[in-house]
Amino acid sequence: MKAIEIKKDIYWTGVKDWTLTNFHGHLTPMHSTYNSYVILDEKITIVDGAKITLSDEMVERVKTVADFSKVSYLVVNHVEMDHSGNIPILMKLAPQIKIITDSAGKMALEEHYDTTGWEYVIVKAGDEVSIGKRTLVFVPTPMLHWPDSMVTYVKEDRLLLSNDAFGQHVCASSIFVKDVPIGVVLKEAKNYYANILTPFGMQAVKAVESLKDLEIDMIAPGHGCIWSGGEEVSLIIDTYRKWSSGEDKGYAVVVYDTMWGSTAKLADAVKSAFDDMGIPVVKCSLKDMHYSVVVTELMEAKYVAVGTPTLNNQLYPSIAQFLTYIKGLGFKNKVGFAFNSYGWKPGVANYIQEYFTQMGWQTKEPFAERFVPNSDILEQIKEHVKKQFS
Ligand code: FEO
Repeated sequence: MKAIEIKKDIYWTGVKDWTLTNFHGHLTPMHSTYNSYVILDEKITIVDGAKITLSDEMVERVKTVADFSKVSYLVVNHVEMDHSGNIPILMKLAPQIKIITDSAGKMALEEHYDTTGWEYVIVKAGDEVSIGKRTLVFVPTPMLHWPDSMVTYVKEDRLLLSNDAFGQHVCASSIFVKDVPIGVVLKEAKNYYANILTPFGMQAVKAVESLKDLEIDMIAPGHGCIWSGGEEVSLIIDTYRKWSSGEDKGYAVVVYDTMWGSTAKLADAVKSAFDDMGIPVVKCSLKDMHYSVVVTELMEAKYVAVGTPTLNNQLYPSIAQFLTYIKGLGFKNKVGFAFNSYGWKPGVANYIQEYFTQMGWQTKEPFAERFVPNSDILEQIKEHVKKQFS
């Protein structure tokens, strides 16, 4: 049990959640961490808490570098319970602590916990709090991804404590990006962005812009590994800029589920049509891939084909779940194509079209066929796709 020094007298005191496999609906195959930090200065400051189930570990880690009775401040960058769950415990251990947060953070704390007796320093954009040799600067990033979200900049150390922004659900032996294969960290940063931050692309753009005047040589997020050095910092900021722009990479994703194999045959034909047109394509069976993995594929796609069997005159449940999820995430600027295999009542492809329309996507003429598609039908859907997308 050891705190890890990330800058002179600034320590990681977070916890690693090796058992987390699903974070409010999206899969986390690399698990996660809840990162908190302790800054040793004239006024000892803790930044962010941890999930309640791992509170003891965080408390013990803090104790290796700081005496709780001497802690002056706790910065609450975000109240979601993965970062705030153990704050009541911290406040019992050290009731003299003043909580630094923005007004939305204070309100959210009061709506989660019994905050009787807690004292606050309420900050707004650009406010500075001196803790001795160091100055903390606060940058609210509202709706990235809660109203209370903010980031804390330690001016003298050029360190950004970014909470959810720039995080990844990665739990590794090291807490530094440089010690983990970069492809793994970027893939998980993308999973994280696609599943959590997609609805807030504009806020991400604003946040990136509001940070552009800060000199940053380390970003220490609330989840996963720490970006250290100019090269890593530029890499993740530039990558966020690209993701938040909503730019696509021009490829297609075919998403489907199947009851007796007919929709799978249609999906193969749709994929084959994209192949013939020279459009790179990814095929995703919801029987084999979790919807949260599919959305990471979908994030930079231009064309999205969704195929469903009809079940009781409705969408197949996995397809309905997927569509509800992507509608909530609000992916923009895509071209949607619906296809459907039905038994005796056509029309379910239109339900998919409705989702596309609600998301503001351009739509193509859907394709539906009855029972098992023979080779003629498969040729027809191929030609239909080619005609629609040419
Ligand atoms: Fe990591 Fe929005 O909590």
